[in-house]
Amino acid sequence: MKNHDVQTIITALGGRAALQALLGVGASAVSNYLARNELPQRAVGPVCEALRARGYRVDPARLEITGQQFPAAEGYHASGDSKRVLLIVGGGIAAYKALEVARRLQDQNIGVTGVMTRSACEFITPLSLAALTGEKAYTDLFSLTDEAEMGHIRLAREADLVLVVPATANLMARVANGIADDLASTILLATTAPVMMAPAMNPVMWGHVATQTNHATLIRRGVEMIGPDDGNMACGEEGTGRLTQPEDIVTAVMARLFRQEGALAGRHALVTSGPTIEPIDSVRYIANRSSGKQGHAIAAALAARGAKVTLVSGPVDQQPPADVTHIAVETARDMLAACEAALPADIAVCAAAVADWRVKPGNSQPAGKLKKQEGAVPQLQLVENPDILATLSRHSHRPRLVVGFAAEAENLQANAAAKLARKGCDWLVANAVTRADGSSVFNSDSNSALFLAGNKHEHWPEMPKSALAERLADRVEAHFA
Ligand code: CTP
Repeated sequence: MKNHDVQTIITALGGRAALQALLGVGASAVSNYLARNELPQRAVGPVCEALRARGYRVDPARLEITGQQFPAAEGYHASGDSKRVLLIVGGGIAAYKALEVARRLQDQNIGVTGVMTRSACEFITPLSLAALTGEKAYTDLFSLTDEAEMGHIRLAREADLVLVVPATANLMARVANGIADDLASTILLATTAPVMMAPAMNPVMWGHVATQTNHATLIRRGVEMIGPDDGNMACGEEGTGRLTQPEDIVTAVMARLFRQEGALAGRHALVTSGPTIEPIDSVRYIANRSSGKQGHAIAAALAARGAKVTLVSGPVDQQPPADVTHIAVETARDMLAACEAALPADIAVCAAAVADWRVKPGNSQPAGKLKKQEGAVPQLQLVENPDILATLSRHSHRPRLVVGFAAEAENLQANAAAKLARKGCDWLVANAVTRADGSSVFNSDSNSALFLAGNKHEHWPEMPKSALAERLADRVEAHFA
């Protein structure tokens, strides 16, 4: 068919290799098309699809580019750098949403190379992914052609970021255990690029201790998780396990791609996390429900930006992130001592749920066990614990930036503003301990917040605790820029 200019189309598709991959032809076939300035009839469908996916308006009758469909988003690629994401599509019902992620990434001028697991091919076809990315979608580790054209190591190394959408329980388990038995898992083991995963699965599978352990392992190794979200699932159940919306996945990826690596290099950050526990005797103690998820995520986010991080944490199930100095403590007084010993620091983030009171000495028997005596109930008296945040805020070696958290049961904004002033910190991240639906933020994977800096405030919507940690780290980075 005529009326089109083959060279223009090849340029718009991203080069000769892109057309070769799209049509499954060799270099000589493309030379022929160029010589005749004509594409075969069978190319019309995939070429039109691929051009549209890259943001062009196309007249299919003449196979002609008539304009730009998607205006490129402002801001992200102001530097002119073009980045490449290796998109691994896992085998789940949410696989089709990976196509939208691919399209939206290209709207942002990001090159996308698609890789699909065998089970992903049960949900979407490699052809649809190839049509959207304008490149061959890779599926097979042992395909000789692929190995000759693009070895899996090269595929893994050429990406600026590896993104898994959806990350299934099975794929997460294989990667957490270092199993490389297909192209996707081999790439995930071989890549040196940052890895982000957007998990999606049935809520019971998500909550299973095996999945949660693998999830924690992956985070500890530096994988950034996007979601999962809460809501109704395709399987008819409700709970945590829904894939995060494609636009939010793309926002997280763009932030990660254009994050300034090492922006906090040379800075020392002190982070408190988890609960403190206060002994009644050597068996019993007073505790609270803090999981340490938020504090640990903040420590990981600051470390990922190059800060030297000291994480002082009460007893939690979370593993400390890689690359932080972890100091395990139990009581508020231990936590304060560990924090003061860690000074000087440039940044202090007090995310721990510190017990406000401990049992008054004399009442408690730290070395023994209170005996039950018939008719006599022990009367525990409490005394106040030191306030670590307030102490650091007024310390002679005060960190330049001190950030507090506030857990409020009522009057969030007014109480948070009063707390900011009372504690003497620079910023406060305040959250309601219970959500509108009555569920608790303690031990949950997501959080919303009111962010206060001086007399300004912002509402941060419900998001994964890891995303909230990134948002706070963005602020810290900007503060020190
Ligand atoms: N905090 C602290 N030391 C304490 C108590 C709290 O460092 N002994 C810190 C927390 O880490 C958090 C902030 O102070 O950053 C607010 O904690 P929160 O429990 O919300 O406030 P409280 O001071 O305990 O006041 P209240 O419980 O009355 O709201």
